Amino acid sequence: MRQYKIAVVPGDGIGPEVASSAVQVLSAVAEKYGFGLSFKEYPAGGCSIDEFGVPLTDETLEGCRASDAVLLGAVGGPKWDKADASIRPEKALLGLRSGLGLYSNLRPALLFPELASASPLKDVSEIDLLIVRELTGGIYFGDHGRFSSADVLSDGQVKGECAFDTESYSTAEIERIVREGFRYAMGRKKKLTLVDKANVLESSRLWREVAERIAPGYPEVSLDFLYVDNCSMQLINRPSTFDVIVTSNMFGDILSDEAGMITGSIGMLPSASLGTPGTPGMYEPVHGSAPDIAGTGKANPLATILSAAMLLRWSLGEEIAADNIERAVKKTLADGFRTVDIAGDGEGVTVLDTVQITQKVLERI
Ligand code: IPM
Ligand code: MG
Repeated sequence: MRQYKIAVVPGDGIGPEVASSAVQVLSAVAEKYGFGLSFKEYPAGGCSIDEFGVPLTDETLEGCRASDAVLLGAVGGPKWDKADASIRPEKALLGLRSGLGLYSNLRPALLFPELASASPLKDVSEIDLLIVRELTGGIYFGDHGRFSSADVLSDGQVKGECAFDTESYSTAEIERIVREGFRYAMGRKKKLTLVDKANVLESSRLWREVAERIAPGYPEVSLDFLYVDNCSMQLINRPSTFDVIVTSNMFGDILSDEAGMITGSIGMLPSASLGTPGTPGMYEPVHGSAPDIAGTGKANPLATILSAAMLLRWSLGEEIAADNIERAVKKTLADGFRTVDIAGDGEGVTVLDTVQITQKVLERI
């Protein structure tokens, strides 16, 4: 029997609730399609700070490294917001991404027709785009720090505190992610948009040079460039014209929230973080830990369930099981079941809690 090890990192807030839904769904398809999954839970984020004083322990990182794939809920919450930068819960995410070498972050944004009324856009009919976000470089991992300097202001000289964060990309880092962008475009509508700020940033100009060098290797893919400010506008203006967007860590972070919102709810958006072949991929919802609704049953588990489908497809090669999960989610929506975030005006739908909607997906597998 095919047998896989899954590291489960539930995290904080609604993380454990949505991770539990996804584990149930994974177990159901494993049973149906005759493969074995063993789940092992690891702490990370705020709960790890509380227990071990650090957001990411070596045990968690090693456990994830030794697995076939990692399923993550979400980390963070106001309780740890005041912590100094090195022990913030988000450090766990960044540590897992860099520790596992997960440089490629796939964030598909798909509009389920049933959810069109939940989108803040009017008359939206089609959104099916993929954001390929560079995940282990750029300003997230560049030099940062504080120093004090003598600033000259119009009213005299003051000693001021300064802070800096550095956006820096090597050709090799750009090349591998841009190639991913081209490869995914080849499997889709063959349209790649590089999003940057090349009118201002030198690093963006290097991204463009590298992309132009790679493009002749993919003659079927049409490549275009868009400044990030313009892109954020065009995502609202003409979302259906996008296919694959490839971009830096920071721009990808921002644009993927926007892409999520226009599909109805960020509660629907899955993601995959991948490294070189052979490294375990990490799968998580794009949304955060939503501490305000933790424990209320309002969390939408569908993004994590759809992330589990990506896990089966990209890390385990269990394509049929992945399709089954996606169909079950689609059918759940088509049958009118919703969590409150995607209820729209509530007309003709049944609003369920986290556990109940998970049950509806399970029944449809
Ligand atoms: C995301 C999140 C993280 C990021 C935070 C929690 C560090 O916003 O995965 O999009 O900025 O990458
Ligand atoms: Mg984000």
